Amino acid sequence: MTDTTPSSDALGPLERTILDAVAAAGDEAALEAVRVAALGKKGSVSALLAQLGKMSPEERKTQGALINGVKERVTAALAERKSALKDAALSQRLAAERVDVTLPLRDPPAEQGRIHPISQVMDEITAIFADMGFSIAEGPDIETDYHNFTALNFPVGHPAREMHDTFFFNPKEDGSRLLLRTHTSPVQIRTMLSQKPPIRVVCPGRTYRCDSDQTHTPMFHQVEGLVIDTESHLGHLKWILEEFCKAFFEVKDVKMRFRPSFFPFTEPSMEVDIQCRRGKDEIRFGEGEDWLEILGCGMVHPNVLRNCGIDPDVYQGFAWGMGIDRIAMLKYGLPDLRAFFEADVRWLKHYGFRPLDFPTLAGGLSA
Ligand code: DAH
Repeated sequence: MTDTTPSSDALGPLERTILDAVAAAGDEAALEAVRVAALGKKGSVSALLAQLGKMSPEERKTQGALINGVKERVTAALAERKSALKDAALSQRLAAERVDVTLPLRDPPAEQGRIHPISQVMDEITAIFADMGFSIAEGPDIETDYHNFTALNFPVGHPAREMHDTFFFNPKEDGSRLLLRTHTSPVQIRTMLSQKPPIRVVCPGRTYRCDSDQTHTPMFHQVEGLVIDTESHLGHLKWILEEFCKAFFEVKDVKMRFRPSFFPFTEPSMEVDIQCRRGKDEIRFGEGEDWLEILGCGMVHPNVLRNCGIDPDVYQGFAWGMGIDRIAMLKYGLPDLRAFFEADVRWLKHYGFRPLDFPTLAGGLSA
């Protein structure tokens, strides 16, 4: 047995090795590994203690005192190192998570973001018409020739089709071809095909024509209006448009001029100008002697009603279509249409609207 009994000479290096490992442990996990290797069930110090039972009483007395001395010193060193590591970890965290309360506040996203003037104007338009009892209707940007032209009473080969500078897709095998809608009027057709009168809808959305200069972009925005029931007439249309213009341009009174015009889908058809005063750099509404064209309108053509399965001897109504980009430019004094689509953050910061200032008639449209 004596050959397995550790001597004090053997204990010295073992203790030094353990204490060195304790000192070298860089974090609590490493320190725990050192503890397990020394004092764990299969640890080196535990193995020595296990041998005490096999010794003679005298041997046990001396060796027990020696081995327990090692155990105590190792335990104390582990505890000391553990608390030192804890303190170090805490100071490191405190340093890393330090907050400089004197730094200026950064604006939250709801304060930094801006609503594009087009979106703002669409929200304003829908708020005004919703207040008059209109619903919103939408249709696809990619349309069939039928919805964009034929159902709207553009006969095949009619020159009015050519005036729309249409973007066509490649023809399908059956010869039909899809297109990018050239106006929001096809949403009239989709609405009348899917709803029974009485109908009161406005349809804002994107429209496309192959046209690009200072005042035209290939993609632009329109809003369509449609009212179908048994008695709505041009007098109602005139009142609606006047109320809309007063609310939208935020003026008390506005004069409007209805000029005869032509659209295949309305009869009679009119173009509408509103009174304005043109200054050097600005334009004012509700005053002055100048006129500015803002929309097209008319009584829905009986052929269009018939194309949608609505009996023109029973039902009648009116429609209008208006360019959104243009009235946005007019209302907010935006000089260049192309800037709308350049996605320049500086421009948007200047002309955009705060996200939480949602336009309402009660709270003020653009306040
Ligand atoms: N769709 C026409 C255009 O883009 C605008 C228009 C005119 C719409 C008269 C209508 C309307 O609903 O009745 O030029």
